[in-house]
Amino acid sequence: MDLGKTMKLRRNDPCPCGSGLKYKKCCLTSKHGLDLKTLYLQRYRIRLKEPSDVEGIRKAGRLVLETLDQAESSIRPGMATEEINSLVHEFTIKNGALPAPLHYHGFPKSVCVSVNEVVCHGIPGNRVLQEGDIVNVDVTTILNGYYADAGKTFLVGNVGFQSQQIVRVARESLRVGLAVIRPGNTVGDVGAAIQGYAEGEGCSVVREFTGHGVGFAFHEAPQIPHFGKRGEGVLLIPGMVFTVEPMINLGEKEIVILDDEWTVVTKDGSLSAQFEQTVLVTETGCESLTPFAL
Ligand code: MF3
Ligand code: CO
Ligand code: CO
Repeated sequence: MDLGKTMKLRRNDPCPCGSGLKYKKCCLTSKHGLDLKTLYLQRYRIRLKEPSDVEGIRKAGRLVLETLDQAESSIRPGMATEEINSLVHEFTIKNGALPAPLHYHGFPKSVCVSVNEVVCHGIPGNRVLQEGDIVNVDVTTILNGYYADAGKTFLVGNVGFQSQQIVRVARESLRVGLAVIRPGNTVGDVGAAIQGYAEGEGCSVVREFTGHGVGFAFHEAPQIPHFGKRGEGVLLIPGMVFTVEPMINLGEKEIVILDDEWTVVTKDGSLSAQFEQTVLVTETGCESLTPFAL
């Protein structure tokens, strides 16, 4: 069976592991899940998670959400983005965890803070938040060796209509992406749902950065593009854990990376917003391991 093609996987289909049994009698249940685990590792380098791994990632995820809440309650006009970094760093350490961004491929801070036209990977520093700004805070935490990754875009004071609009479309883009995650759908279905929605709202989808497998490391296989065609890409199966994190621009999709080699901005200077969660593919759909209302 050709997992990479357009085929949809149903409970009564032959199992993709090649056993000859129905999928529901074979690798859909954890009893024989080892076969698919080996297959996905060998074919895609995807590391499926056991229930004990999921519990570890869920705990890390709870801490990520608490950290985002701390950041949100501190955000006010006049605050430097560096203060968000200090807060995230201290709160993470105080809770016996580590901030994954710090020194990751040379990243100099403990959290990404991305304001207005900054798409992602903003380095906290001297930039002072102004009333009317939008600010993305993207937190990745390592707790007991498990990684969870989530982010939200916050409004600084009262913001204009366009800022409200891009934040709404970015939030909804994550929601429509998560809504199609279930065994039998593919990675391409997630991207297609997000792209169809966001472009239908007159916004654009950043291509250069994707969601990603997560849990044992910061960035694992597979990549989860936020654009694409239905039915394409890897078939989703229970035990996959990955992020969905669409970066949505109010203007054109093109980006530029600044001389600091990290900060990603929109080429046209338009606003960009992003929401991210870490999710588990379950037997019936998906469960967020960093759940917040969308
Ligand atoms: N948290 C980002 C993501 O969602 C990655 C940041 S990499 C860093 O994948 F080095 F900038 F932290
Ligand atoms: Co992130
Ligand atoms: Co991520």
